Amino acid sequence: MASITRFKPQHLGQVCEIENSSFSEPFSADYFEQLAEKYPETFLISEKESRVLGYIVAETYRNKAHILSIAVRDDCRRKRIGSGLLDALIERLRLKEVKEVFLEVRESNVAARSLYEKAGFKLSGRIKGYYGKDDAVLYHLKL
Ligand SMILES: CC(C)(COP(=O)(O)OP(=O)(O)OC[C@H]1O[C@@H](n2cnc3c(N)ncnc32)[C@H](O)[C@@H]1OP(=O)(O)O)[C@@H](O)C(=O)NCCC(=O)NCCS
Repeated sequence: MASITRFKPQHLGQVCEIENSSFSEPFSADYFEQLAEKYPETFLISEKESRVLGYIVAETYRNKAHILSIAVRDDCRRKRIGSGLLDALIERLRLKEVKEVFLEVRESNVAARSLYEKAGFKLSGRIKGYYGKDDAVLYHLKL
């Protein structure tokens, strides 16, 4: 069974591996290190026997949070790792008295959109050309 814990420096290599295989414009290792330093409570990983299965990271300010990235290892998808990470993040945000969570996602990303909608996120807008030729759709969740 996988466990969810805070990101630690030893996870960086595996997080980058998952990030690089999940996105065409991945975050750099340096950026993940900065996020870990700035938002240690809201950078979470799912891990089983020292293997990182996925991660989620959000920035927080005042009583708002912005999900910056979530990804699950290719061969571990559709096993509730992503929804487990999202639920764990939301639980921690509630404890921090965050009142609203928002994010943007590529319009064509059916898997991620479905994950967010199942968690109760509501569509709140669109940014044309946010990903080059693709639009972003915006979601938010009131806590
Ligand atoms: C989006 C992502 C994180 C989902 O992680 P996951 O662990 O596979 O998701 P879960 O198993 O927790 O699925 C939860 C729900 O999400 C939806 N979902 C997940 N994958 C899906 C897919 N391929 N197609 C349609 N719906 C999907 C379903 O509603 C699913 O519930 P169900 O299994 O009961 O039908 C994963 O697909 C991923 O890493 N994608 C690449 C990175 C990415 O696009 N991140 C989002 C950036 S905003």
